Amino acid sequence: MIKVCVCVCVCVCVCKMVVYRFLGVGGPVLVTGLIPRFSARFYNNLTNNNNNNNNNKLKNKNPVRSVSGLRDATHTLSTHTHSGSVCVAEREVRVRFAPSPTGFLHLGGLRTALYNFLFAKQHGGTFILRLEDTDQSRIVHGAAQDIEHTLEWAGIPPDESASRGGVYGPYVQSERLSLYSAAAASLIESGHAYYCFCTNHRLELLKKEALHRGQTPRYDNRCRHLHADQVQENLAQGKPHAIRFGLHAEAEPFEDLVFGWTGHAVGEVEGDPVILKNDGFPTYHLANVVDDAHMHVSHVLRGAEWLTSTCKHLQLYRALRTTPPTYAHLPLLLNPDGTKLSKRQGDIYISHFRQQGALPEALLDLITNCGSGFNSNRIGRNLNELISEFNVSKIVTHSAVLDLRKLPEFNRVHLQQRIEDGLQCRLLVDEVKNLLTLTYNDLIQERDVLDHNYILRVLHMRKRHISSVKDLVSPVYSYLWLRPSVSWQQLEEMSSESHDIIAHVMLVIKGRNGEYTPEFLTAELKLIAKTLKKTKYSSVMKILRLALTGQQQGPSVGEIMVSLGEDEVCCRLQRILEA
Ligand SMILES: *[C@@H]1O[C@H](CO)[C@@H](O)[C@H](O)[C@H]1NC(C)=O
Repeated sequence: MIKVCVCVCVCVCVCKMVVYRFLGVGGPVLVTGLIPRFSARFYNNLTNNNNNNNNNKLKNKNPVRSVSGLRDATHTLSTHTHSGSVCVAEREVRVRFAPSPTGFLHLGGLRTALYNFLFAKQHGGTFILRLEDTDQSRIVHGAAQDIEHTLEWAGIPPDESASRGGVYGPYVQSERLSLYSAAAASLIESGHAYYCFCTNHRLELLKKEALHRGQTPRYDNRCRHLHADQVQENLAQGKPHAIRFGLHAEAEPFEDLVFGWTGHAVGEVEGDPVILKNDGFPTYHLANVVDDAHMHVSHVLRGAEWLTSTCKHLQLYRALRTTPPTYAHLPLLLNPDGTKLSKRQGDIYISHFRQQGALPEALLDLITNCGSGFNSNRIGRNLNELISEFNVSKIVTHSAVLDLRKLPEFNRVHLQQRIEDGLQCRLLVDEVKNLLTLTYNDLIQERDVLDHNYILRVLHMRKRHISSVKDLVSPVYSYLWLRPSVSWQQLEEMSSESHDIIAHVMLVIKGRNGEYTPEFLTAELKLIAKTLKKTKYSSVMKILRLALTGQQQGPSVGEIMVSLGEDEVCCRLQRILEA
């Protein structure tokens, strides 16, 4: 058996010029172009059953037989870290978010989509949405639509997707089966993959035996060693089969943009993985490699749970003679108690937050704030600021704690920004109007409260205090839309001077258009309190608050009076005097 050498590739990136050095360990120094042939030879040695083919391959001067649609190997990586910063070379940036439609979009998925979106937009690249629906039994009805609609709602829509189209479609894996079977066939032909005829029964037995011995179950690669004649006979008999990829034992390190140099001797710890199932559907490993290559994906930003699989994927890229993307594995998202933010918890679905009145920009801000990837963190960043401030070199490997208790605060800050933006605020006014109609409907007697300028004023007065426009239709704010019923007796009980106070206030505020501000009103109310013998300033406030709102708590009396407006305040006070 030929001694096999491990290649360590040291990449140096100097202003778009990529220089490669391959260090042969225990073997001759190899140049880039030899890599495909080198690995083919390696496999033919592993599968020591087809020596004739083997010789042909070694003589073949032009072994590049790329699968249709897949690029030939050029072995140029596009991104390398150099003195801590990421240098994106000439390759066009194309990234993808590739969820399985096995559930609605949740926070973890939104985080992955967002980081891909930010990276794409920062580099003038393309953001692709691809649905990985090869596990047909787990598909959830409506999930595919929910994922795309939610990305649109969040303001991070894909550039290419099933509904938007694009040149590398279809964007749904179940519609791309011919690409995977072609890739699997080419891998069989080049000796990198083989037919596996093992029955489920045998695989179960292997598993049981391993567990019995206290070992991790793994396939024993038995069919890798089947004789070619046996394979032909089994195929001729129509025996059910899967296609497995022959892993090689060496750890080929790769440079992850987040985790740095990483390598796993995956072939030593795992059995050969199935790449194409008996039903013609690919497994994740083959499908994501074939699609990323076919869709010219330049960078893969995905969850750290895929880090160990990446070595497998790189072996597949090499076997398919295509250029792998650059990987950046994102750290896990955790709950404050340290548990994994799993999609099994119902309350992390984006639709849930949406129903609660969460603003998309607040969710995005919270997600990025709890994690890394920015030179500094601050609350209140909008999407454009996230794009310009994102720095992939700043993503750290340790898990991010997502504290959802902070969401109301993030929402408040972003709601204030919307209120201060004329166009956005107009939409908020309409939203409040709809909410009012839904909540109070016939109860609203004064149609003036549905007036645009009235709602606008309320929004501006409350913008530092509410975290959702829905707050405005909660009982504490009902006084803004409905006249309270307050009895004269209630006010008398608070002070025998109540009548004087109310009459005095009405005198002061009538016809004060220009000066009608919370500050002016507070100052005037203080003056009134000074003239009273039996009632303190704080009690004056309590009386007025009760008279105007029917409540004992709420915003300052000055603010309440401004929100309601002079006419409405006079009307409410007059009603009490006449009661
Ligand atoms: C991104 O982060 C790296 C590593 O900390 C730093 O060297 C680089 O200057 C940052 N880039 C920008 C644009 O801030």
